[in-house]
Amino acid sequence: MSDNHDASGVPTTGHVWDDDLGDLTNQPPKWWMLGLAASAIWCVIYFIYYPSIPVSNANNYFHGLGGWTAITEMEADKSDVDKVRGKYEDKLKDMTPAAILADSELTEYVTRSGKVLFGDNCAACHGTNGVGTADKQGFMAPILRDDEWQYGGKIGDIYTTITGGRQGVMTAHKGVLTDPQIDDVAKYIMAMKAAGKDKADADPTVAAGKAVFASSDCTACHGADAKGIPAMGSKNLTDSICRFDCSIEGVTRTITFGVNAGPDARAAVMPSFQAAGKLSDAELKKLAVYVYKFGGGQPDAPAASPVANSAAK
Ligand code: HEC
Ligand code: HEC
Repeated sequence: MSDNHDASGVPTTGHVWDDDLGDLTNQPPKWWMLGLAASAIWCVIYFIYYPSIPVSNANNYFHGLGGWTAITEMEADKSDVDKVRGKYEDKLKDMTPAAILADSELTEYVTRSGKVLFGDNCAACHGTNGVGTADKQGFMAPILRDDEWQYGGKIGDIYTTITGGRQGVMTAHKGVLTDPQIDDVAKYIMAMKAAGKDKADADPTVAAGKAVFASSDCTACHGADAKGIPAMGSKNLTDSICRFDCSIEGVTRTITFGVNAGPDARAAVMPSFQAAGKLSDAELKKLAVYVYKFGGGQPDAPAASPVANSAAK
């Protein structure tokens, strides 16, 4: 190319920088040239094998000779995952929620998939992780993490709640009781919630409310002990856990207008997920176990002996 050489006689381009730096005209090393050629060939093969060359728009492109698509790759991955899951899913089909709960390996599997199901289907009302949600009128959907259950906390009860839905009904007492009677009974309930039924019963300042409670229809639904009846979902009124709002105003409002009993009443509807048809039976079972495992689930009573049964009656 030129007659230029550097001090040691190696040919250069003739450019000199910084007084004595010259550009050598050596060929790149052979391994480098081979690598360049190999990568060019690789590009051509890759472009032919995989979808690569756009023709006019996103849907019109050269699909490649290898038949590769992102969807088929995802499906192959998914079927690998399904193989691992299949073993559990097959077992679940024929098991009751109680049987799943008795199997620790299955319970662990189910609680993991239950988390996603709960997030997608329940968290909007019950809050992330079942902490409940509230609006300005009090709790909209109940806390599922505590160990108080309106409809029962055994695994079978929880499963029934989720599949069939629940809707507690408390009649309005406006017009049934006088306003002073409603105020009195509300004060009695506040006293029970603060100190328990025994203390409230012994407290002369709420004696009037106690009399209203005992003589009106309250006991028919909440029980004479005011602890609630799971079959109706009537709330336990003797503890500090609130279904709606435990301020005196909130309790007065519940008594005055009731629950699910007309336009002014509080609305409290747990939808039926079986009727909605969106979830499979296996998914409903998973959710029951997941909710039970929040920590508040109650164990099934061990089968009582006939002797103990007749003694209890
Ligand atoms: C549209 C809102 C809504 C959705 C969605 C919802 N719930 Fe509920 N859930 C409620 C309400 C409201 C209640 C209380 C019903 C009542 O007070 O009578 C309730 C009650 C319950 C109870 C009974 C609690 C007890 O103390 O006995 C359980 C268990 C429960 N829900 C689980 C679930 C699960 C699991 C899901 C998701 C599959 C779900 N809920 C989705 C609103 C909802
Ligand atoms: C027809 C049955 C019925 C009658 C009668 C009834 N209740 Fe209720 N009550 C319920 C049910 C069911 C709930 C829970 C509603 C729900 O969550 O869906 C409830 C809820 C309540 C609550 C809300 C508790 C909380 O934690 O927020 C209070 C307070 C209450 N009742 C007080 C009374 C009083 C006082 C009387 C009598 C004057 C009475 N109830 C009569 C069925 C009844």
